Amino acid sequence: MAISACGTAYLAGLIGKYWFERYARLTVEIDVASEFRYREIPLSPQSAALFISQSGETADTLASLRYCKERGLKIGAIVNACESTIAREADAVFPILAGPEIGVASTKAFTCQLAVLAALAIGAARARGTVTEDELQALVRSLAEVPRVMGQVLNSIQPEIEFLSRELSKCRDVLYLGRGTSFPLAMEGALKLKEISYIHAEGYAAGELKHGPIALIDDNMPVIVIAPHDRFFDKTVSNMQEVAARGGRIILITDEKGAAASKLNTMHTLVLPAVDEIIAPMIFSLPIQLLAYHTALFMGTDVDQPRNLAKSVTVE
Ligand code: AGP
Repeated sequence: MAISACGTAYLAGLIGKYWFERYARLTVEIDVASEFRYREIPLSPQSAALFISQSGETADTLASLRYCKERGLKIGAIVNACESTIAREADAVFPILAGPEIGVASTKAFTCQLAVLAALAIGAARARGTVTEDELQALVRSLAEVPRVMGQVLNSIQPEIEFLSRELSKCRDVLYLGRGTSFPLAMEGALKLKEISYIHAEGYAAGELKHGPIALIDDNMPVIVIAPHDRFFDKTVSNMQEVAARGGRIILITDEKGAAASKLNTMHTLVLPAVDEIIAPMIFSLPIQLLAYHTALFMGTDVDQPRNLAKSVTVE
């Protein structure tokens, strides 16, 4: 299967790739839409292609969709605007039902895109028989938990987010790290922060730290580590130790188990409820989005209409 999209929608797709591969054992080719159709990827008409777009009008995503359609692939579209061109040209439409998203920065569309991608991955796993009935039920139960856990998180983290955002607003650069599905989330955190606060931010796979970005670490550099207590946690902790040893200021976003297991001096540890791996990206995206929002408020920037950006990018 192929997935293509732009910006935040692409990062949702990247998380979807992890899910389709892990649960449905389906290989996923993914790229940003502006590269996708120029790569001359060998695409089979037996394949499906999935395009993700809040607006459904993004020029690069639409061009990639048409590229795949001309080659005979079955086209699916994950959209918010169901009357859009992308929705009209797809064979199957998967609405995210987020309601109108007015602010330029994609927030609720991102979490709703993730919910739809998770549901599709679980559906594909069921159709392909790659998970047992018990596993399937557990995955669906976890997905149904998302609204309740999100409410719980939104009600509890506000004071800590404001404290951390005040600190971030004094910084010039911020590094985000994560492994597994927390890696695209790290890139999404960096995208959101730079988009609305204009602070330079990078999102990296935690394992890539020692291949370059570690050179940036000093006591001026906050490093936001997204690390639920999952299969990758111990590896991420060893990356955090590398940051701590160089004086980097760590903001760890984890869950109760992770907080108890990390045993590291952090500038702050933000503790979220422990959740199943499949819903962690949806839950962990909340502090990521709120950090960007409150940092932008402290910076005095326009959080709804950031400079140089349009909500819908209809030129290539
Ligand atoms: C996200 O905050 C951005 N505004 C941007 O990356 C956006 O997700 C991208 O332009 C894609 O838009 P679409 O979902 O409407 O296709």
